[in-house]
Amino acid sequence: MEMQLNKKNAQEPMIRIEHLYKTFRSGAAGVRALVDVSLEIEKGSIFGIIGFSGAGKSTLVRCLNLLERPTSGKVFVGGKELTAMKESEVRKSRKKISMIFQLFNLMKSRTVLGNVLFPLRGSSLSLSQRRSKAIELLKIVGLEEKLNAYPSELSGGQKQRVAIARALASDPEVLLCDEATSALDPQTTQDILSLIKDLNRKLGITVIVITHEMAVVKQICDSVAVMENGSVVEKGDIYTVFSNPQMPITRRFIGTTDGVERVKGQIDDIISPLGLSKGDTVVELSFHGSASGHALVSNLSRKFDIDISIIYGNIEMLDGKPLGKMITVFRGKDESIRSALSSIDGESIFAEVMYHAE
Ligand SMILES: Nc1ncnc2c1ncn2[C@@H]1O[C@H](COP(=O)(O)OP(=O)(O)O)[C@@H](O)[C@H]1O
Ligand SMILES: [Mg+2]
Repeated sequence: MEMQLNKKNAQEPMIRIEHLYKTFRSGAAGVRALVDVSLEIEKGSIFGIIGFSGAGKSTLVRCLNLLERPTSGKVFVGGKELTAMKESEVRKSRKKISMIFQLFNLMKSRTVLGNVLFPLRGSSLSLSQRRSKAIELLKIVGLEEKLNAYPSELSGGQKQRVAIARALASDPEVLLCDEATSALDPQTTQDILSLIKDLNRKLGITVIVITHEMAVVKQICDSVAVMENGSVVEKGDIYTVFSNPQMPITRRFIGTTDGVERVKGQIDDIISPLGLSKGDTVVELSFHGSASGHALVSNLSRKFDIDISIIYGNIEMLDGKPLGKMITVFRGKDESIRSALSSIDGESIFAEVMYHAE
């Protein structure tokens, strides 16, 4: 019995959301901020939620710890249903979840140390234990030199480090980052994302990253959900979503970090000056994992007696695996092009005809 329970807990995601709706009453018409959102977020993962401004991302994270009461639907944290709890129990469960924000939300009148001590004020630790804990956390985020500085004396990156130390003071299992790097320059963004990834690895803390920047998702997330108009329109592990995006909005987001998706978005403009002849076929090739090193183009060219020119190519690492994408023009007899395309395995190399010149 005991063992079965443990086993069940081991499989339970850190966060499970079922059919969440949130409608804000404003005037006669309500604002439907969340529409039937269901998600599972694995323990120990870094989960990205991406969407344009107004998509419902912040409402979703506020509903996760019931800072906002959903209109309907269920929220489970660590297997327990928050939406079925009394307010006093919710307050206890909420301690498992910490949050950091775009504008850091530090207390200006308190020192760095004072800010990190603040969430410990109700704890059972002695004063000196609290102090050691806060200093330890400030060491983890690389700010032990700044204990007595005030927020106004810190850079944006340093402020966010204080906010992270403060968020960790309550020993949370989940860290919610709502646009946490949106106010930072690119280098500082990299540094803060690396720190968050480190904390995820070392402390096993589950991280939810809310952002409107695909580059952020690409750098640290294992999985991603794309939100549009209050709904999750696409979700999956990042390799799958980046290698095979389904929805136009997902393609747009990927296009901000991936040249191939961008080129595809303007393909008509790009191919018209190329002077394609009848029968020329524009093909997107994608190479997953080790297939990225495969000599596909020269092999096809030799074997099927066709010419293949490369308009655009790109390779990048996602979740530690290479993903190569290429836009090419196949030129040759129709029959040869068809045979060449059908010889591509569709397991680790994929071909998609984008345009066929008539
Ligand atoms: N307290 C509120 N009252 C009324 N409307 C709100 C409130 N909070 C958010 N909204 C509306 O809900 C929608 C989603 O907002 P939000 O969750 O902040 O989006 P995002 O974080 O993706 O930018 C928007 O249309 C916003 O105007
Ligand atoms: Mg927001």
